[in-house]
Order: sequence, then structure tokens, then C-alpha cells
Amino acid sequence: MLKETEIKKSNRLDFSNGWSYAPAPESTGHINIREKYGHFINGKFVEPTEGEYFDTVNPATEEKLAEVANGSHADVDAAVKAARQAYNKYWSKMSGRDRGRYIYRIARMIQEKARELAVIESMDGGKPIRESRDVDVPLAAGHFFYYAGWADKLNYAFPGREPRSLGVAGQIIPWNFPLLMAAWKIAPALATGNTIVIKPAETTPLTSMKLAEIIQEADLPHGVVNFVNGAGKTGAAIVDHPDVNKIAFTGSTGVGKIIQKAIAGSGKKLTLELGGKAANIIFEDATIDQAVEGIINGIFFNQGHVCCAGSRLFVQENIADEVRDKLIDRMSTLIVGDPLDKNTDVGAINSKEQLETINRYLEYGVQDGAEIYQTKCALPDKGYWCCPTLVGNVSQSHKLVQEEIFGPVLTIQTFRTPAEALEKANNTPYGLSGGVWTDKGSKIFGMTNGIRAGVLWANTFNKFDPTSPFGGYKESGLGREGGLHGLLPYLEL
Ligand code: NAI
Ligand code: MG
Repeated sequence: MLKETEIKKSNRLDFSNGWSYAPAPESTGHINIREKYGHFINGKFVEPTEGEYFDTVNPATEEKLAEVANGSHADVDAAVKAARQAYNKYWSKMSGRDRGRYIYRIARMIQEKARELAVIESMDGGKPIRESRDVDVPLAAGHFFYYAGWADKLNYAFPGREPRSLGVAGQIIPWNFPLLMAAWKIAPALATGNTIVIKPAETTPLTSMKLAEIIQEADLPHGVVNFVNGAGKTGAAIVDHPDVNKIAFTGSTGVGKIIQKAIAGSGKKLTLELGGKAANIIFEDATIDQAVEGIINGIFFNQGHVCCAGSRLFVQENIADEVRDKLIDRMSTLIVGDPLDKNTDVGAINSKEQLETINRYLEYGVQDGAEIYQTKCALPDKGYWCCPTLVGNVSQSHKLVQEEIFGPVLTIQTFRTPAEALEKANNTPYGLSGGVWTDKGSKIFGMTNGIRAGVLWANTFNKFDPTSPFGGYKESGLGREGGLHGLLPYLEL
């Protein structure tokens, strides 16, 4: 752990011992989670063949929420067999119009159960209820609505071509947007006529289990969507299974590379959505207060557990002091704590392991002579927490500037000219996203043409929409998800 003296605590606008908001926790009385979850295979919840389970905990309280099965090779094999059978018997033969009806049904049921899904998402993963309620769950429903619309229009999506489904899709998702990532993966695969074996992340399986219940209630033909619980080994079993036609993965760049090697030469199609180290670039002519809000949203949203987080801030030199001061003031007002409280801005770090990773990076920062500011946030006794952190006095070669931290940690550097900003922004192995803040349209076009990243925001940050493709350059991945582009990885043309 870092020594207190190595971190500067911001003293400005200190709310910790003055006044504070009255607690406004969302109730949990209406949610329904089972004590134990196996897998969801062939339309039914089943026990694992080898009978192994692990706990999923609430990272804000360290309390166990449920036990979840640890999938074996045999479990994965059963799920792939069910998916293959469902593909051959029903899903590949069904008209696009009928597939669309099922997908619309799932979308509507997500909306009907939105409150329960949001609360469970916040409990299992630590994100503020405001985000799970206003971002994750509506966007998840939005993805199903959007792709439901494509199901009977694939011929119009690719005029003159004959789109054909691939077969069984194996999908592996991370813990930062558990329900939303399930929606990103499942909705386009269903719309294009594929069947699915999906594995949720081991720390956040519960909204996937609720989605399995929804899919069961929506009466999809058995085996069209199968959920196998487990960790890395279970994921690898899906990747290696010979009867899987396509792999879609979102997670760390390290595991992405392992998967790429594992399927090389197998003929399986692949999409990877990996890490990021986005530059957020603020020019002197930007509206500074608006930019500060965008910077805050860019990195502290979802505790910085966002692959496209604006984790590297570049400020034009002549406004650097002003931006830094305003940023520290605004950071001091962020409320860190109970994810279920509607006032909370920054929730719990997803797991003990992830908190250790973040703290390790802060230690590197101290060793390398970085200046670390943290807000003086009062933290609960239990759970995994990290106060919003700003890291100054760093250069391009610093570990904290080069590597993905995946926490509420923002580095700040300066630049003089647009060319310098571009060079610094592109000096990373990643290329997922970026942001530009300026009053000048021409600068926006100049910069966004020069930044090698898949998603770029101008005078805003972290905005998502089902109709818009998302994906990276370089080590941030390959392929696109979302929008019309998101259909392609699931089709042969
Ligand atoms: P991870 O890449 O290990 O986990 C993501 C998913 O992959 C999980 O479902 C996991 O069970 C599965 N998995 C793990 N090993 C596998 C393997 N060999 N074959 C197939 N599936 C496998 O990520 P982890 O360890 O949870 O987080 C480590 C770092 O990864 C984070 O600090 C962050 O930098 C990055 N990350 C990036 C994400 C993104 O959205 N791009 C999401 C999650 C993590
Ligand atoms: Mg959990």
C-alpha cells in the first residue's frame, strides 16, 4: 500500500467533515437472486457436471451474493452441442422476421425488468446505480431493439450479396459492463441467425443469469442461447472447442493475444475488443468548464473500468494550471461510496484483484517520481475502493502513461501545438478511443483525422449508441461491434 505522505490529498472544497447529502439508497427488496446458479444449457438451468462452484461477491460490502458454477470442458461441450442442434433444427431455418420477433421480445422484457437488473448490476459489480439504471440497462435493451430491426433486413444491409449465418458463436465477456456486453454480443448474433454459447465474467455473472431467465421466459427455441459460467479455463474451453464457428471476446489485451494464437489456422472467425489508453485533448479555445465535466466523465465514470476511458489528459500549456485547478476542485466534489445510493458518482472497484492492480500502478507512479493527487474521500470500512486520482509530473515513457490501469486514475500532461498533441496521443500501443475539446471545427477534423483510434468524441466523451460501430486499432482489437458493421462478424457474404 502507498504511504499517506506519498499522496497529496486535495484540501479544497472538502465535504468529508462538513455537510453531505442524506443517503438515498435504492431498495433491494424487489430483487430476486437464487443462492446457487449452474449453467443455462438447452433452455434449462442445469448443475455443472463436476459440481464445482465459486462465490460472486458484492465488491462494496465483500458479502457473498450467490454461488456460481465453474464450467468444465464437459459443460462447454454440452452447451456447444445444444447450440449446434438448435442451429440446425430451428434458428438457421427460421425467417428473419420471426427471429426479429424473439429479439424484440427480449428487448421489451429487459425494459420491464429494468429496475431489478440495474440493482443487481450495481450489487454484483460495484457500479453506481445511476449508471446501471441510466446507461447499462437502457443501452442493453437498445441493442436488442436495434438488432431486432435488422433480422429481416439483412439483404438490404448488404445489397447484391447473400448474407449467410456462420453457425455457433462462442462469446466471452468482461466484468465492466456485464449486461451491456452480453447484449452487444448476443443481439447481433441472434439477428444474423447464429446460435450462442456465452460465458459471463466470474466476478459479475448475475445479470447474465437474469438474462438467461428472460430468454427462457421469452420462449426462445431451446439451445439458441446457452450460458456457461466459469473463469479463464472455461473461456479457453469455448475458444478451443472444434464445433464453434466464431469467437467474440472483450477483455484484456493479454488474453486477446492468447485467443488469437489459439484459433490461428482453425478457420474460426474472430472479433476482439481489448484495452485502451485514450487521449483526451483540451485546446486553449475549449469551453473549459464543459471540458472539465467531460474529463471527469471520461475517466471517473464506472470507476475508470472502461476500455475507452479518457485516461490520458493532454492540456494546451497556457491553460494547464487553470484546467488542473478546476479539475481538482471538481474531483473533490465527487461522491465515492455505496453503489446503490443515487447520489454516488464513483462506486466500488470491481474486485480485490483489480484494486491491487490499480494500487500497484500508483506505487510505480511514486517510484517514478510522479505527483499523485487524491481527493480526501471518506471510504466505507469494507469493500474495494479507490479515491479519484490525478497523476502529474509524468512523461510519455512512464508506465502510468503507457499502460492500461482500468481504474479512476488520470494522468495529466501538456502540449504546445496540435502536432505535438497528435504525436503524444498516438504514442501508445492502443487505439480504441479519444477526445478533442476545442471551439474550432477545423481543429476537430484535423485532430480526429490524425488520431489512430476507432472511436473519437468531440466536445463530449463516453457517449454510446447501438447504431454506432465501436472497436479499435492496433492492440485495442479487431473487428467492430454495434451498428451495421456489427452484423458483419456474424455473417459470410
Ligand atoms: P480478462 O481478459 O482475464 O477477463 C475477461 C474475460 O475473459 C473473463 O470472462 C475471463 O473469465 C475470460 N478469460 C480469462 N482468461 C481467458 C482465456 N485464457 N481464454 C478465454 N477466456 C479467458 O481480464 P481481467 O483479468 O479480468 O482484467 C485484467 C485487465 O484487463 C484489466 O485491468 C483491464 O486492463 C483489462 N480489461 C479490459 C476490458 C475491456 O473492456 N477491454 C474488460 C476487462 C478487463
Ligand atoms: Mg460480483
